[in-house]
Amino acid sequence: MALEGLKVITYLGFKIKNNNPTSVSFLGIDLDNTLGLAAGLDKNGDYIDSLSALGFGHIEIGTVTPKPQLGNKKPRLFRIRSEKALINNMGFNNKGVDYLVRKVEKRNSSTPLGISIGKNLDTPMDSALEDYLICLDKVYLLADYIAINISSPNTKNLRDLQSETYIDNLLSSIKDRQSVLNSTKGYTPILIKISPDMSLDELKIVSASVLQNKLDGIICANTTSSHNHPSGKGGLSGGPLFELSTNALAVLRGFVGPDLPIIASGGVIDLETFEEKINKGANVAQIYTGFIYEGPSLVDEIINSVS
Ligand SMILES: Cc1cc2nc3c(=O)[nH]c(=O)nc-3n(C[C@H](O)[C@H](O)[C@H](O)COP(=O)(O)O)c2cc1C
Repeated sequence: MALEGLKVITYLGFKIKNNNPTSVSFLGIDLDNTLGLAAGLDKNGDYIDSLSALGFGHIEIGTVTPKPQLGNKKPRLFRIRSEKALINNMGFNNKGVDYLVRKVEKRNSSTPLGISIGKNLDTPMDSALEDYLICLDKVYLLADYIAINISSPNTKNLRDLQSETYIDNLLSSIKDRQSVLNSTKGYTPILIKISPDMSLDELKIVSASVLQNKLDGIICANTTSSHNHPSGKGGLSGGPLFELSTNALAVLRGFVGPDLPIIASGGVIDLETFEEKINKGANVAQIYTGFIYEGPSLVDEIINSVS
């Protein structure tokens, strides 16, 4: 597997140098640069040190769930090379939150770390909150921020958590737990990751709930289920996701105002698309699919071009 190869080259001392590190303060964290790695590439925290050597300003690991689970049936990952795109129907395949905690505790690098948490497939929707709280408690002290993933299209009904029926209760309960944990352990920011497939009204509802419940920020966005790939299922990422997710970002920035921290994700495949995310209101931006196609040279290009 390619990530195993990355482990070897970083073990041998490979490192991408950031020639103009700029200390950017984001969520109270000092970042070397505004480019991050999006969730899902290192689901279990197995590659944190290798990925850190590539120069990312932050790395988001996960999504993890309380219990380990296998994810959806294979094949579940398809490349559309001509468009620098992927379709994935992974379904939160992961080794469980306890495994990830052990990995994070053993890491040697200090790149700021986001930890993305989700619910197990077999947890009923009415108990979804419990899954998030279990993971939140376990990763709270280890993360620079925690991402609440309610937007993967590959776990049945997960995206319903973004709807008016669930969102306020979910976010207020998570906020309450954060306040309790803060009193003894200090403050860890919590963001939600949203879908790019929401209507204007749905975006408005989520934005209002985030502001009302004083969540720390939003990650915009996950993969889109709006595509015609023959596999039928799964979320589309990379090139074709850029416009949809960037439009959602611009609308979101309008709804939440200038101050709420936003991480952009979706279709960053070169310097230009990275800069456009920042221009449209993101504080920082992440890559996933672009990194799969271009490799570490894309990280080098971006972090050494932006000031
Ligand atoms: C194979 C694959 C697995 C992913 N797994 C996760 C995940 O576990 N949690 C999550 O929040 N996002 C996950 N994502 C979504 C990415 O984090 C990212 O938001 C999305 O791919 C859009 O960015 P991109 O166009 O740069 O890839 C996954 C994406 C891919 C392609």
